[in-house]
Amino acid sequence: MTDAIHHLSAYDDVTLDQAFATLAAEVTSSVSLQDPEAFRLLWLGRKQGRLKLISDAWLKSAPAEARKPLGIRFNQLKQQIEVALEAPVAKPAAQGIDITLPSTIRTPGIPHPLLTTMDRVVEVFHHLGYSTSLGPQVESDFYNFEALNFPPNHPARDTQDTLQIAGQSSKPSRDRLLMRTHTSPVQIRSMLEGPPPLRIVIPGKVHRNDAADATHSPIFHQVEGLCVDTNITFSDLKGTLDHAMRALFGSAVKTRFFPSFFPFTEPSADVQISCIFCNGKGCRKCKHSGWIELLGCGMVDPAVFEAVTAERRRLGLDPTPYDPARISGFAFGMGVERIAMILHGVSDIGQFYTGDLRFLEQFA
Ligand code: PHE
Repeated sequence: MTDAIHHLSAYDDVTLDQAFATLAAEVTSSVSLQDPEAFRLLWLGRKQGRLKLISDAWLKSAPAEARKPLGIRFNQLKQQIEVALEAPVAKPAAQGIDITLPSTIRTPGIPHPLLTTMDRVVEVFHHLGYSTSLGPQVESDFYNFEALNFPPNHPARDTQDTLQIAGQSSKPSRDRLLMRTHTSPVQIRSMLEGPPPLRIVIPGKVHRNDAADATHSPIFHQVEGLCVDTNITFSDLKGTLDHAMRALFGSAVKTRFFPSFFPFTEPSADVQISCIFCNGKGCRKCKHSGWIELLGCGMVDPAVFEAVTAERRRLGLDPTPYDPARISGFAFGMGVERIAMILHGVSDIGQFYTGDLRFLEQFA
């Protein structure tokens, strides 16, 4: 880096300027690379310092008329060295980068496990030709209950403890707003939007006035399905859900259908899958029954088609496409949290909502 001192070829200003400019550049680069004491020794050392060597090589043998221009430049160089020694802040390059410091780590985000689960379920039905429909979380009584065959004040409403929006009592009951308790109101919205054939999946957030515990949350997610066409039968429902459960939980999974009740399906069924933890032998997870209850379903109740027909007439739409004498359909609904808990072995539903990275990072 710092070269040996050469003899000067001449003593004119241009030669001297060049020679001292080179030395000044050497001072600048050596101050940034060495600790102050090594730098001092390199330039100001009594015996081998570069200033001493320059003085010996250039000043002593210079002709008389060159002493003054040489001396001025020599003193400027010496000043530069002394200034650099007094102001260690003037050499930031060596200290500016500390390669031992920890780096800035930017972790890319990942989809939340509930979203991933919801997407997986939706994907299974997309492969069967279903498309996605969405609806609002603030819903009217008509869509959430009435059109789904929950009459006003009927006890069936008690099964879905509802969060009502305040200040609605002056409205007719069908227009009163509430937080939707299930994704089923989107069935009605979709049937008002267009005629059959209809094959839709409805993922979304729902709200119930439930106390939180290990398996309940007042806000949770569902994926709903609706299929309406001519000649849709209960065996279509069974085949569809049996396929979907095997696509989600593995081809060894069996399904079984139990009689149940929902106001908007008739007949209605609860679907159970064979326990994926013990292959149906019985374990703690399935309460030693060998089966896990997973979803509700049934054939669309003709009363729902009638409500849709009446509403289409009221809105000035063609009322004929949903005549229950000509078409039939099935519907199903499942809880996303429950499926995610089974798929990932999560025992406390609350883990999905606290935002604790120690939990969430496991899904990265
Ligand atoms: N909406 C019902 C619930 O939330 C589930 C369901 C959907 C049942 C569609 C039958 C048909 O419990």
